[in-house]
Parts: sequence; C-alpha cells; structure tokens
Amino acid sequence: HQRVFSGMQPTSTLHLGNYLGALTNWVAMQETHECVFCVVDMHALTLWQDPADLKRAIREVTAAYIAAGIDPQKSIIFNQSQVSAHAELAWICNCVARLGWMNRMTQFKEKAGKDRENASLGLYAYPSLMAADILLYKATHVPVGEDQKQHLELTRDIAQKFNNDFAPQIAELGLGTGELGFFPLPEPMIMGPAQRVMSLRDGTKKMSKSDTSDYSRINLTDDADAIAQKIRKAKTDPEALPSEEKGLEGRPEAENLVGIYAGLSGVAKSAVLQQFGGGQFSGFKAALVDLAVEKLAPIAGEMRRLLAEPRHIDAILGAGAERAGAIATPIMNEVKDIVGFVRG
Ligand code: TYM
Repeated sequence: HQRVFSGMQPTSTLHLGNYLGALTNWVAMQETHECVFCVVDMHALTLWQDPADLKRAIREVTAAYIAAGIDPQKSIIFNQSQVSAHAELAWICNCVARLGWMNRMTQFKEKAGKDRENASLGLYAYPSLMAADILLYKATHVPVGEDQKQHLELTRDIAQKFNNDFAPQIAELGLGTGELGFFPLPEPMIMGPAQRVMSLRDGTKKMSKSDTSDYSRINLTDDADAIAQKIRKAKTDPEALPSEEKGLEGRPEAENLVGIYAGLSGVAKSAVLQQFGGGQFSGFKAALVDLAVEKLAPIAGEMRRLLAEPRHIDAILGAGAERAGAIATPIMNEVKDIVGFVRG
C-alpha cells in the first residue's frame, strides 16, 4: 500500500522555495496517491514562537496548501498537534535513535548556531519527531525539497532499527509486511527543476524564511508589485544566458532564476534555455516577472479569501485531524503492542 506524507512548519509565510520544492509536487501526487499533508505546529515550537503569531501561521499555511491546489476532500490536511500519536511515537523514535545519529544533523548545527548550550532539547530531537510523523502513517513516499534529504535518511535508519530491534515481536504478533518488517522505509521524493531554490540576493544561499532580507525571497502572499520588484532586483551576472544546462555551471544566480522559471512553467531547465539562451537577463527577467505574477498572484488572492474565514479553516483542520487519527491510532496501538506496553 502506497501512502504519501509531507509537512511544512508554520513559522512564517511560505515562500517560493516551499512552493516549487515541495507544494507543487504534492499537488501532482495528489492525483495518483493517498496523501496526508500536515501543518507541523509541534516542530514550530522548537524555536520560540509568539502564540498569536503561531495560530495565524497555522491557518496561513493551511490556506496556502488549499490555494495551491491541495483538495481537502481528497487529501488529508491537518495540524500535527491535533493528533497526539505524533508525540507518542516521537518518544519511541527518541528511544530508537542514537545520539551519534542526531549529532550528525546539519540543520541542528545551523539552527542552534554558536550558542548550542542554549538550544532547546526539542530542536535537537526535531528530526526524530519528523521520523514519527512519517512512520505513524506507514508512509511510503515523502515529497520534500533537497534540504530535507538528511532527515529522511535518518527516518529510514530509525524505521530499520525499530524493525530489527523488535523483529521477534513483530513476527509473533503477525505485524510484519513481508521481509520489510513493521515500518516501510519511506522513499524521499525530491523532484523537479527547483529542488533547492536559492536566495534572490545570493545564489549560494538557500531561499529561507530566516533570511533578514525580504528581497531574498518571494513570499506566497506577495502582490504583483512586490513580485516584480524582487525579480527585477534579483542578483545576476553580466553574461548572456547559455543555450545549454552545462553553461549554468559556476553561475549560481543564473541557474537559480532558470530553475525558478522552469519550476513555475512546469518544464525542464533545458527547455527554458532553448527559449532564452543567448539573450540578456533583462528580457528573461521580464518574462519571469510575467510568469511569476500569472502563477503566484492567484494563490495570494485565494489565500486572502480563505483567511477571511478562519473558522472554516479550523473546521478543515479538525476534520482532517479526525481522518488522520483514524489511520494513526491503529498503527500506534500496534507499536505499543510490539514494544510491550499494556493496553487495557
Ligand atoms: P520546512 O517547513 O522548512 O519546509 C517545507 C518544505 O519546503 C521545502 N523547502 C525548499 N525547497 C526548495 N528550495 C528551498 N529553498 C526550500 N526551502 C524549503 C522543504 O524541503 C520542505 O519540503 N522538517 C520539515 C517539515 C516536516 C516534514 C515532516 C516534512 C516535519 N515533519 C514529515 C516531510 C515529512 C521542514 O522543516 O520543512
């Protein structure tokens, strides 16, 4: 049985990296797979959040999912904290994961910064909660951007170790699926021409919500003027665009803008270069502004419309949490039986 799971943190407004690296791929997978899409509010707490801002961000991310094309009737959309089994399985994952594995996580090192003694324990355990999110649904496919690759490798390691550590119990209870054990090893789905969208100000830095310059990213809530300004100001180099992909090597800003164009238009980078190769950036940027406004402005508009009715959004999350819980609870109960917990 195939099942897709993925999620985004409600820490601030989603940006073009979230959209092209993940959300557009979710929308595509929704046509062929059973999908569970989570707003990971428990992950957001690993760094301090103002409670009113967190609430707003949870609704905003939900609105972004729907505005981008996730259908809450077809796919499950919910926020993590409403299905308490995420926290329960995360504890089991904490006890399976090894300190040595956690110490290798590069995102923790980046986010904790120099003052590591002062980072939250939650930030350190973050990837283990992410593993729990995925395993709780026995998800087989996880569509994410390139920056989540290491976390997915850890998820597979945790699943594998659980399967090995409890192999006799899994067999005895008849809960194994073939030679795989209890948890399937989830496949990372890192797809498309924009797997790692870079900052518009510096092609060697990832586009991220934490960048202090708003000109570094296009937010899904930006209006047409803001989108146009940011693209016009985006860093480029003085050369003309190449006609072939290998001509982008060593030109991170050019490669990024071509990848963004490809992602937004749903074609490969090579096709974009066939069209614009040999031309100057000015012409290409004008075309990119038109394309970005055409694709993104309707999403911003739809988000505004949805956010005008927060109760409607909360109802979608509540109904989604019920459907998610219906999948998660039996799996969590099996995990409890496997590890030896008593259930009355
Ligand atoms: P988050 O909230 O940082 O990002 C959400 C998704 O957007 C992708 N992404 C990008 N893709 C391309 N270019 C970029 N510049 C860029 N920035 C972000 C991310 O790869 C991600 O797919 N740990 C996850 C959330 C999470 C999760 C999960 C994901 C929690 N549990 C279970 C999948 C399955 C995160 O922090 O994503």
